[in-house]
Amino acid sequence: MCGIIGYIGEKNPIDILINGLKSLEYRGYDSAGIALKNKDQVETIKSVGKIINLEEKIKSTDLISSNLGIAHTRWATHGRPSEENAHPHQSGKITLVHNGIIENADELREKLKKEGISFYSETDTEVVAALINKYYEKSPVDAITKALQEVKGSYALGILFEDNEDLYAVRKDSPLIVGLGQKENFIASDIAAIIDYTNKYILLEEKEIAHIRKDKVEVIKEGKVIDKKIEQTNLEKDSKDKNGYDHYMLKEIMEEPVVLEKTFKPYLEHLDSLPDLTKYEEIHIVACGSAMYAGMIGKTLLEEYANTKVEIDVASEYRYKNIIYDRKTIVILISQSGETADTIAAMRKAKEHNIDTLAIVNVKTSTIARESDSQIFIEAGPEIAVATTKAYILQVGIMALLAYKTALTKDLVKEEHKVLEEAEHLPRLIKEVLDRQDEYKEIAKEIYKEEDIFFIGRKIDYATSMEGSLKLKEVSYIHSEAYQAGELKHGTISLIDEGMPVFAIITDDTIKDKTVSNIEEVKSRGAKTIIISNESWDNQKLQVVVPRISPYFQPLLIVPTLQLIAYETAKLRGCDIDKPKNLAKSVTVE
Ligand code: AGP
Repeated sequence: MCGIIGYIGEKNPIDILINGLKSLEYRGYDSAGIALKNKDQVETIKSVGKIINLEEKIKSTDLISSNLGIAHTRWATHGRPSEENAHPHQSGKITLVHNGIIENADELREKLKKEGISFYSETDTEVVAALINKYYEKSPVDAITKALQEVKGSYALGILFEDNEDLYAVRKDSPLIVGLGQKENFIASDIAAIIDYTNKYILLEEKEIAHIRKDKVEVIKEGKVIDKKIEQTNLEKDSKDKNGYDHYMLKEIMEEPVVLEKTFKPYLEHLDSLPDLTKYEEIHIVACGSAMYAGMIGKTLLEEYANTKVEIDVASEYRYKNIIYDRKTIVILISQSGETADTIAAMRKAKEHNIDTLAIVNVKTSTIARESDSQIFIEAGPEIAVATTKAYILQVGIMALLAYKTALTKDLVKEEHKVLEEAEHLPRLIKEVLDRQDEYKEIAKEIYKEEDIFFIGRKIDYATSMEGSLKLKEVSYIHSEAYQAGELKHGTISLIDEGMPVFAIITDDTIKDKTVSNIEEVKSRGAKTIIISNESWDNQKLQVVVPRISPYFQPLLIVPTLQLIAYETAKLRGCDIDKPKNLAKSVTVE
């Protein structure tokens, strides 16, 4: 996924564009570039690597004065990270930036080559620029319309025309907004990039073209200018600051008690405002990555405590599988960004079959939030670190409340599960867990030089271990696997070597003795075991003990320890914690 920002107004756009790119860097950061326009001149500067490299290059270049520009930070999909492949891309009179994937780019490139057009990059984006240029005579809107009729795939485009003084934008499947200022206007992949300048914006819908001047914005749909609602964000300007923390990841982990309380509040007051899952004969949970692991915890809680069968799958599989919808079904989509391409496709597949879709989503203006039939919004606020932490915790929390409500509806809540009372104390309990950072630093010291680490658990503890493993991989680059504790001995145990760390998550009393046996199995093969549990263990040097609470919420006290262990380990390894290599915050491409 990539980040786009554009500016037209009375200021020099360079600082605005660079500042905006820095807010968008979490969307991709293998290369970046800007293009400035002044009368019939367009000047482009690009660099490989992070925005800071582009900033240095701009400082050492004598640039045209300008009041119009576009900029882009890239997560490579077509063509390796390089200056040639960095955006903006130019063809004839067209200079543009793009977020998305043009699925028929190769076919279009060959066709254009036969018409005598040559290409300098490996990107699909340059093909779009060439196509718009092919159709451009006098009307930018006509040229955009004609070109995009031939394009298959997803795009958010910011476009400059050499002999036109205005800014143009269009989107399909990739998000793009038009920011509205005083004698200045913007385009951006998300509002965070321009929050320092305006909190008002227009949300471009599918195939809507924006014609943007400094004092006027027109949105054209199928050749006609249409009215658009002006949205206003409540995002705070300081939400992009680290508030004194070394990394956004740590800041966002520390926000977990507050955002959990904010998210839970409406539902603890009115549990009935949560959807009634008992109306359905079948429940599918579909998501990607950490969101899917939150779904795994939800599945386990629904099956274990609400006697409710749940199918779960990663969206990249679900969207292509032959799903048999032969019963009254609800598809629950979990997504922080609401822009994950595979999860969007899974949602649209369900809707095509007239299946109800429920989104558990953070970004209220996202595609999944807007296209799903119903939503449960988590109140995580902007999550800047690429590795999700607070949003994941809230996804797990909502799944727990859904499981509890379902159990209540079926009159299956066990007397000892004082879920609603405990929910009131959760923020404090999580804060107490978070405050024990010295313990996590000690464990990080024990593992940070390792290259292979296992996480094992059974039932809910296995579901929790999946995110523990992924978090460690993402930010510390240590290879790790989450494994069903009982399954290890069926082959993979051959990998256990002397001193290899194995984390065991043990909170479920119904199965803990079995997991203890599995710990002994790996210990007898030399493993260094670390137990994360809700009780203390004799003769166990490395362990973290969190308060014992209802099984619905127990993962909410375990996960923060795993997040902080991953964070401290990555810190010791000197990794780029907020922007891990190869990752992007929201994967808006397949
Ligand atoms: C980032 O830390 C996550 N590991 C990543 O897997 C994420 O959960 C996944 O890409 C889904 O993103 P979404 O929640 O925005 O849909």
